[in-house]
Amino acid sequence: MKAVQIKEFGGPEQLFIGDWDDPKVGPHDLLVMVKATALNRADTLQRMGKYPPPKGDSPIMGLEMAGEVVAVGEAVSRWKVGDQVCSLLGGGGYAELAVVHEDLAMPIPEGLQYEEAAAIPEVFLTAYQALIWLAKLEKDERILIHAGASGVGTAAIQLARQQGAIPIVTASAPKHELCLQLGAEKAIDYKSEDFAEAVMAHTKGEGVHVVLDFLAAPYFQRNMDVLQADGRMVILALMGGVKAEQVNMAPILRKRLHIMGSTLRARSLDYKIKLSRDLQQHLWSAFAAKQVQPVIDRIMDWRDVAEAHRLMEANKNAGKIILKVGS
Ligand SMILES: NC(=O)c1ccc[n+]([C@@H]2O[C@H](COP(=O)([O-])OP(=O)(O)OC[C@H]3O[C@@H](n4cnc5c(N)ncnc54)[C@H](OP(=O)(O)O)[C@@H]3O)[C@@H](O)[C@H]2O)c1
Repeated sequence: MKAVQIKEFGGPEQLFIGDWDDPKVGPHDLLVMVKATALNRADTLQRMGKYPPPKGDSPIMGLEMAGEVVAVGEAVSRWKVGDQVCSLLGGGGYAELAVVHEDLAMPIPEGLQYEEAAAIPEVFLTAYQALIWLAKLEKDERILIHAGASGVGTAAIQLARQQGAIPIVTASAPKHELCLQLGAEKAIDYKSEDFAEAVMAHTKGEGVHVVLDFLAAPYFQRNMDVLQADGRMVILALMGGVKAEQVNMAPILRKRLHIMGSTLRARSLDYKIKLSRDLQQHLWSAFAAKQVQPVIDRIMDWRDVAEAHRLMEANKNAGKIILKVGS
């Protein structure tokens, strides 16, 4: 098969499409002809050698895909050749063929194209895990979602609304309209105003119940400051840095805060399977009814993968960048 490979760890110019061994199909695996995959920030880190795949996973980039089943392992009973699936992957999405455990594969939601289905697994599972499993977001609660126009952010806004909660986001100004259309009650331009002051002004001093964070160090204090009593903060990335200095930790005790972190990729297969099943039950009919949608910034040919990485690293995308795979 053909797959996107990395000449040497470094910039997008290191990416090329070349021959690679077909993946081996275990007894419980599906072999899928990948029709579309999607970019994630993690891919850019992996390209630079800063985010190695977990042991046992494909070294090829690509954390999700949608495609057609072309072979099944001898113990597979739920799927057959010709079925259309989408799935989270430990790696290997940037390739013509991918293997996935039969229990991790999900049917493509009714009425969705491969390109749309490929935009779902990583960001919706991440947002679902953070909002529902970890933060236990409830109806009428307020949630501050940083990087609101990111892939994860656009999924989180919609999930929050599905839950009956009220999302407030931070994003650069040109991306506000999208966030508001998806259901954000308020969009804050973190570049021109202090997000904590803006949140407190908007909520008339009440603050929020949950914060979904990707920036870490520079936002840690202000995230604590905007949380109400019994508030929950879920940290999913360290985009702003890892070392917070001069942090006043009193709010953790005074407000009984819960501070959590997680990375989906490192979770066990069993955990990912349970999460995928829960997400399907929660959202698949909403996808079919177009009440929730994968947000796609653009669809590109996979031969333009280097350009796709450049766009993401320049923060140009709002929602997902999709790669159409194959000739
Ligand atoms: N822990 C997990 O399990 C998990 C899973 C998936 C993703 N993630 C992480 O979640 C984050 C979002 O991923 P994604 O693929 O959805 O990203 P994405 O679509 O590339 O969006 C990231 C956005 O974050 C904003 N941003 C970047 N640097 C920023 C900064 N210094 N300050 C404020 N905003 C900044 C930019 O939007 P603006 O133009 O608005 O600034 C950028 O477009 C990434 O850090 C990723 O690694 C974590």
